[in-house]
Amino acid sequence: MTVPLTHAPAAAPGITVRPVPCPPSVGKRVRDERFGVVVSGIDDINNLTKDEFAAVERLLYTHGFVVFEDVDLTPAGQYALTRAFDPAADEYGHGKVGRPDPKSILHPDLRNIPGTPVQLIGNGVVTDEHILQGLQGPCKLRHPSHQSFHKTQVSDEDSAKGFTRFYRWHIDAALYERDPPKVTTLYGLQMPQAKVNTVRYDDGTGDELAVPLGGTAFVSGKIMFDILPAELKSLAVRTRVRYSPHPYAWMAPAKARSTGLGMISEGKEMPDEDLPPWKEEHVKTLPVCWKNPVTGQLHFQVHPSGIKELLIDPLPSSATRTDSTLYPDGAHLTDLVEVRELMYRMQRPGIAPELVYTVDWKPRDLALFHNRGVLHSITGAFAEDEVRACESRQSSPRHL
Ligand SMILES: [Fe+2]
Repeated sequence: MTVPLTHAPAAAPGITVRPVPCPPSVGKRVRDERFGVVVSGIDDINNLTKDEFAAVERLLYTHGFVVFEDVDLTPAGQYALTRAFDPAADEYGHGKVGRPDPKSILHPDLRNIPGTPVQLIGNGVVTDEHILQGLQGPCKLRHPSHQSFHKTQVSDEDSAKGFTRFYRWHIDAALYERDPPKVTTLYGLQMPQAKVNTVRYDDGTGDELAVPLGGTAFVSGKIMFDILPAELKSLAVRTRVRYSPHPYAWMAPAKARSTGLGMISEGKEMPDEDLPPWKEEHVKTLPVCWKNPVTGQLHFQVHPSGIKELLIDPLPSSATRTDSTLYPDGAHLTDLVEVRELMYRMQRPGIAPELVYTVDWKPRDLALFHNRGVLHSITGAFAEDEVRACESRQSSPRHL
């Protein structure tokens, strides 16, 4: 799974790197790890030199995400930059056609820019031709809202006051037939400025987090792993996740937890026979822990909404068993309630408010993130007339 990198210099000439600006909510751990950097000094963002790309690639895997401020990126440039991370992958992360299956919960959220695998996402009516890039205008976008996805909702009254939730913590991945893209690029085009929302976790902890309206929230999968107690670390490295066939169709009738971190088990998932046609060979079983190709460190990378079963290897004979060792003889967990509760116990600490970094988008900002090393979620309670537009691109290989 570890992929050799281009021979990268420590830095390319002219490139400068600084930490992302951290609001007070960001805790010491995230700051000390230097999660997220701002990179400047690239000559032409649409056409990186070999040395520039090698430096950016190394920075991305080292810091989890990389932001370029105020750059003029074309859809072709975005395609080229994203593809450079994985030249063998030339499709959007959810497949060739540019939009997921109509039964998928993702279907209404994506608009394909003609002639490219780039998707336009956002909210409100977009009329600017520079943004539409060949899409028929005016184009009405819909910012996904927790109101339709979560089991419970923030009241309309509180929404109007700016309270919101994390929509859905996820990896960008079809989780069926295709493997998770290495990198996603997000290019901000138009968004409201200087408005603040408050994310409520609504899980009884009282946790809250101030976020810029429409900000994209990130957590580090490395930190999510590092903060686990020893018995859960041991379990994480021994566990693989089997995702549902067509997980976004499967989960569509079900509802999510108030933290956006996985689903509530009420037996509402779409039965296998109602899913779009699927083949056993395309069902994905992926590790819980992914090794970073630059640092060698482990990242806890699970898309909690699509998980169906857990396959746990026994503790190696060389390892010491204690009273707290979990599943020392291994297990194959198929009870959805047990599967989800165990995964939530491992992932919830990693989205604590002080561990979340939320990108405060400005027009022409470009963010690249390590999709096999971080989890992300959109946030935001948008009014119907508030316009936000971003272009998103992932490259998804069919096989690791
Ligand atoms: Fe995403």
